[in-house]
Amino acid sequence: MSVPLADEGDDVPTITPYRDGPLILRGSFRIEDQDGNEIDPGRETVALCRCGKSGLKPFCDGAHRRAGFRAASGPSRERHVAALRRADLDGPSDDA
Ligand code: FES
Repeated sequence: MSVPLADEGDDVPTITPYRDGPLILRGSFRIEDQDGNEIDPGRETVALCRCGKSGLKPFCDGAHRRAGFRAASGPSRERHVAALRRADLDGPSDDA
């Protein structure tokens, strides 16, 4: 997979974790399920659920507000390089 560099224009895919809310995905991106089937986002900027309560996963439907979901915009703790390498090989861990 090739990820464009930041100086390649406005089409760089950007993921912004919103405080107490979804992951906002902007730029040029493609969303696929685990079988490689494209999921049509229906728009150029999408909100992806990270609270687990959406009835429209993988998209946010606002349920995080009713659920009282709390999360910082930045990382909740520092991740070590070894853990990141393991996650690359094994996929995300339960505590990622
Ligand atoms: S983050 Fe909005 S419904 Fe989960």
